[in-house]
Amino acid sequence: KITAVKAMEILDSRGNPTVRVFVALNDGTTVSASVPSGASTGENEAIELRDGDAGRYLGKGVLKAVANVNAVIAPRLIGMAAGDQATIDELMIDLDGTPNKSTLGANAILGVSMAVARAAATSLGLPLYRYLGGTACRRIPVPAMNIINGGAHADNSVDIQEFMAVPFGAPSFGEGLRSIAETFHTLKKILKSRGLATGVGDEGGYAPNLASNEEAIETIIEAIEQAGYRPGVDIGISLDSAASSFSPDLGTTYELSRSGGGRLSSSDMIALGERWVDKYPILTWEDPLAENDWEGFRRFTERLGHRIDVVGDDIFVTNTRYIERGIQEKTANSVLIKLNQIGTVTESIDAVRMCRDAGWRYFISHRSGETEDTFLADFAVAMDGGQIKTGSASRSERIAKYNRLLEIEQELGATALYYWK
Ligand code: PGA
Ligand code: ZN
Repeated sequence: KITAVKAMEILDSRGNPTVRVFVALNDGTTVSASVPSGASTGENEAIELRDGDAGRYLGKGVLKAVANVNAVIAPRLIGMAAGDQATIDELMIDLDGTPNKSTLGANAILGVSMAVARAAATSLGLPLYRYLGGTACRRIPVPAMNIINGGAHADNSVDIQEFMAVPFGAPSFGEGLRSIAETFHTLKKILKSRGLATGVGDEGGYAPNLASNEEAIETIIEAIEQAGYRPGVDIGISLDSAASSFSPDLGTTYELSRSGGGRLSSSDMIALGERWVDKYPILTWEDPLAENDWEGFRRFTERLGHRIDVVGDDIFVTNTRYIERGIQEKTANSVLIKLNQIGTVTESIDAVRMCRDAGWRYFISHRSGETEDTFLADFAVAMDGGQIKTGSASRSERIAKYNRLLEIEQELGATALYYWK
């Protein structure tokens, strides 16, 4: 039984305020969970409630969300069983009363939702992944490590937001992680030798000023080879264009202004996609088109969906309403799952279920603003989907998730599974 729910304001990895929620049970269990925060957010994401008080944290304080947990949500949850996740999540959705959680804030609601799940797991003496996923869950996700950052995550000359190395051919998670960490360090040497910057962006990847977006991919391929791995066999490439961030109308116009690539149409973007997929060992491509360009997205998938995973992030925002439309219209073939885009654990699981039922893949993802909370690692194992996106081999808020996955792999021992498809 829940005896206390209490929130506080903490800082995320960008130094911006976010919400941490503590939940206590009558058996002495006390746990906490912390909420992440995005930068390249989709228009239809659940609302992250910020105070707007310019006198505190440049308006980004979350004291209103904290107060909503303490004064509005907490009194309703006292006495409920922490195991009643779906009931608790539904109660919070009703209390909020809006489709995008703008009354209480998705940051308030998600913090409680995550902390309740962790409290129930702890109380049962189960690891979080086992509580959420059951005994069948023993697949460790393949990591997509974001080793070059651009777009909204870095102040450089690269339009594409994320260039990821994916150890899809590795025999285990641990070996896969090692291969991409080695690639990351080799990449640093290459950048240094060319006089390029090796400071990191929000997700811990390098953020050099390269001559073009292609150069980012080509440099990563060089790093993979120099590190002793085979591009396209041991390690593949994943991209997140986050195309909404360079589409002024969030639709059919694309301005590759950082790299000097000019103004492109949806058709140009699709042609560019085909060229790159022909030329490079690309496994998955997220948000290749902007969130309102459903038709462009569909055509991209029609052309390339049989060769790569076309992943919708900003276009679906982990919301079954948009995923359902995507499935009907064949807009993509995969979904990025971010808990704070929708705002509860239960709705995130619903989104995963919808993907599974449609034969779509799903990628469990962090946000560019993260905390030391490792909930995501357990959630990814529990969802049994086989892919996680949680940043580079630097910045402890990213490494914390990798370290948690190493722990889970060790715990599962010989029963652990690791495979791409
Ligand atoms: P965000 O970036 O957390 O800034 O939205 C991550 C992504 O776009 O996948
Ligand atoms: Zn994205």
